[in-house]
Amino acid sequence: MCGIFAYLNYLTPKSRLEVLDLLVTGLKRLEYRGYDSTGVAIDSPDSKNIVMVKRTGKVKVLEDAIQEHFTGGEYSEPVATHIGIAHTRWATHGEPCERNSHPQRSDEGNGFVVVHNGIITNYNDVKTFLRKRGYEFESETDTEVFAKLVHHLWKTHPTYSFRELVEQAILQLEGAFAVAVKSKHFPGECVAARRSSPLLVGIKTKTRLATDHIPILYGKDDKKQTSDQETRPHGQTRELPVLPRSDSTSEFMPLEEKEVEYFFASDASAVIEHTNRVIYLEDDDVAAVRDGTLSIHRLKKSLDDPHAREITTLKMEIQQIMKGNYDYFMQKEIFEQPDSVVNTMRGRVRFDGNAIVLGGIKDYIPEIKRCRRLMLIGCGTSYHSAVATRQLLEELTELPVMVELASDFLDRNTPIFRDDVCFFISQSGETADTLMALRYCKQRGALIVGITNTVGSSICRESHCGVHINAGPEIGVASTKAYTSQFISLVMFALVMSEDRLSLQQRRLEILQALSNLADQIRKVLKLDSKVQELAKDLYQHKSLLIMGRGYNFATCLEGALKVKELTYMHSEGIMAGELKHGPLALVDDSMPVLMIVLRDPVYVKCMNALQQVTSRKGCPVIICEEGDEETKAFSSRSLEIPRTVDCLQGILTVIPMQLLSYHIAVLRGCDVDCPRNLAKSVTVE
Ligand code: F6R
Repeated sequence: MCGIFAYLNYLTPKSRLEVLDLLVTGLKRLEYRGYDSTGVAIDSPDSKNIVMVKRTGKVKVLEDAIQEHFTGGEYSEPVATHIGIAHTRWATHGEPCERNSHPQRSDEGNGFVVVHNGIITNYNDVKTFLRKRGYEFESETDTEVFAKLVHHLWKTHPTYSFRELVEQAILQLEGAFAVAVKSKHFPGECVAARRSSPLLVGIKTKTRLATDHIPILYGKDDKKQTSDQETRPHGQTRELPVLPRSDSTSEFMPLEEKEVEYFFASDASAVIEHTNRVIYLEDDDVAAVRDGTLSIHRLKKSLDDPHAREITTLKMEIQQIMKGNYDYFMQKEIFEQPDSVVNTMRGRVRFDGNAIVLGGIKDYIPEIKRCRRLMLIGCGTSYHSAVATRQLLEELTELPVMVELASDFLDRNTPIFRDDVCFFISQSGETADTLMALRYCKQRGALIVGITNTVGSSICRESHCGVHINAGPEIGVASTKAYTSQFISLVMFALVMSEDRLSLQQRRLEILQALSNLADQIRKVLKLDSKVQELAKDLYQHKSLLIMGRGYNFATCLEGALKVKELTYMHSEGIMAGELKHGPLALVDDSMPVLMIVLRDPVYVKCMNALQQVTSRKGCPVIICEEGDEETKAFSSRSLEIPRTVDCLQGILTVIPMQLLSYHIAVLRGCDVDCPRNLAKSVTVE
């Protein structure tokens, strides 16, 4: 949700057209996050001004506008040092339109331009403050407040460096945000900062970097200090205060390279084709590039701060984020599941010795075994992976297991104890509700276990320990392979917890055996694709689809219905078959599309009962059943057969036809499969 991409070339000549090309490509890589408008800012040919182009709609529209706008030969001239910033916006304050798109500017002369991700919660107070000083606002965004505040500080504190101006502005702001700022008053410089919204810096140099760390600085500066008496403007008319700087005396030992390129981006997929060397910024970090030198400063000093930010080497390959021969990322990701589930288990499950090691949590297992209860917390699909594995976790850990939607968990101020173990499940690792819930539980002393797919994400970093699900980058907004990998990660955790329980050994062996066959069975399920496509042709013009099941397959019903809703905009509901008689049965007639999951597991008889309730109301359900189960198949003319596996892993095989079905219905309905309307891949606002 919202994407920031900025590119700074220092002594590495590039024409403005090349820079624009880079910016647009960066935005394309961030498209999957969800957005409704776009924009870029670069220097004018005489380098004295900043030129912006903004458009509503897709990056392609921006790309076309750029081609129309930048036609002069001067845009092909190489420039030794330049900074360009770009953005994909997902509307929060004000409708999607060019006026509200980013970059937002400080004044008509484009003195400072800002791209921003997140929400500034006290923007109204700051706006009132600035209005009283003559600033007029042209957009409805909270971002514009930031640009104008920097401008105001620049006017009132002319000796301040660019970085100091941005720092001082951030200190006045509340909320969660990441920003990248460019200024015509500070050519060739870029300042970027984060507070609760992800941001990283990619570094590209000709030779290998001499250091793996960038030391952190604490505002030690040679410029003059002003007032320290007040904190926030809160709409008062008095002069905006400038907060005191810390008295820390950290050595200034920045990264110094002669020729260097920097990339500032919301996530690694936008930089990986340029460099695999990145620094993940932490909350309240301010990264500044001046004369080609990167330095990282902290707004606030805390005791547990490390002395340096590490430069991480990304393992991701560019091919991993390209579509290959598939029409959509989502389709590619569905078909990657035979491999992604194996990657989740790789190096962790030893099928020959029936042993499982989860390196990221092994030291915490004794503590987890002593806990009062396990809490699994997430949103959307990630929450469904918790629903899917709860029963097995209860069985193999013999602990109470609570499953919580992060938003509801926070609304309820749920009691949390020091001996609770809280799992935070998130593909992106940046979902605001999940992150807030994590911080809430951490403050109360619980052990925090992260289950994420994004190395370096906030949830990863703020957890005490965790499991990286290793599903590979998931670009389609609708989560598919991350779900099956989250599922397997939780199953592996249950197996680890039951390692020394004699009475559970037979069950463990049965599950391990099933895990070893899973990839082949997924391949088999994927062969149903054309059959599912035919089924989609029957269903795509309907208004609604009910998906029924129970036990281990209830999570598939919820997840299947979520996929149908988000991708096809059809109504869909996942119904616990045991609840049919308590209301939903009233929906069933000969025209209501119904899909039922009826597998040969401990709830088979109950599912058959539900199936009969539906068929006796003239319902004609599509049945998902086990291969060769003629008796169950006989209840319908349409069925999808999946291979037999152990009951607790069925959900992995039953969810795949649902992923395929929602995908095909979306294509038939002409929906944007990879970027469904109104949705974002990474939901970084509450
Ligand atoms: C649905 C979907 C969302 C996410 C949810 C949580 O296909 O993708 O429901 O699962 O927004 O996101 P993460 O897992 O990144 O925390």
